[in-house]
Amino acid sequence: MKHSVRIALALLLALCCALMTACAAKPASPTSQSALVVGFSQLGAESGWRIGNTASMEQAAQEWGFGLMLDNANQRQDKQIAAIRSFISYQVDVIVFSPIVETGWNNVLTEAKNAGIPVIIMDRMIETDDDDLYTAYIGADFLAEGKKAGEFLIKKADAMGAEHLNVVEITGTEASTPMRERQAGFMQAIEGDDRFTVIESVNGDFLRSKGEECMRHLLETYGPEGIDVIYSHNDEMTLGALDVLESAGVKPGKDVILISVDGQQEAVDALREGRINCIVECTPDLGGKVMEMVDALSRGETVPKQNHPEETSFSEFDDLSGLAPRGY
Ligand code: AHR
Repeated sequence: MKHSVRIALALLLALCCALMTACAAKPASPTSQSALVVGFSQLGAESGWRIGNTASMEQAAQEWGFGLMLDNANQRQDKQIAAIRSFISYQVDVIVFSPIVETGWNNVLTEAKNAGIPVIIMDRMIETDDDDLYTAYIGADFLAEGKKAGEFLIKKADAMGAEHLNVVEITGTEASTPMRERQAGFMQAIEGDDRFTVIESVNGDFLRSKGEECMRHLLETYGPEGIDVIYSHNDEMTLGALDVLESAGVKPGKDVILISVDGQQEAVDALREGRINCIVECTPDLGGKVMEMVDALSRGETVPKQNHPEETSFSEFDDLSGLAPRGY
């Protein structure tokens, strides 16, 4: 075979491989979906978790070639309701929203239903008697997360041979699903175990600044000796509490047991340093699953109603050397 022909064939082969790789990297079967528009009402930007969740939605929409109308409600339910109404007027193909609290959505979701627009609830859930108001839920099993936190505490108390531990809880946003269920799951796990007394629950609204405030209040009320365990509903509040404890000369992770939820990089680093004892994972990486469902709905497929991602927990009892960077 002539040299020039061989070069031409090699170039053709390389081009075919490049095309195949590009096709394989794309999400499955985009058809007319490049025209799809998703209206997404995000509840805020209160945590690294939330910022990671928004980024996951943006990236997935881009990968699928969907238009994304994104509205950040800055922690206000009325702004979320207004955003959903604007998505209805715009006649988006699918509405996705992460409800800040569980109640108060019936009217606006009835409007979406009457307009024939499917609604995917992402991350947090709503409380409603009418399950037809939404098509599907994609988000964590928050009750299971709370149970994992309680199970870690039992394991830790066993390892310490502890007789009695005073627990304080820093909770997330009042009346939100993660707040309610992380609390309930934790209580269920430690229920009936006399070694634990929850002496106070304070609301930190999932914010680092409020985590600091809560910790100051708890230290003033009970003193460092009066608190053995801090169960905090997210990493932002935990990191705020850490700063206050360390400024007061308390060694978190040693003088007091810290249990957190999420798995943000900064918190995982603190776990590795021995300043946090356990982190229950909650993944913000939900965008891919959401867009896959948008695609399925656009093709008239039936989708599962409840969808939980797989999640784990990380603690001082685990080997964390192989843990990949968290990305949020
Ligand atoms: O709803 C999920 C929770 O909201 C995350 O745990 C928290 O970090 C976020 O603000």
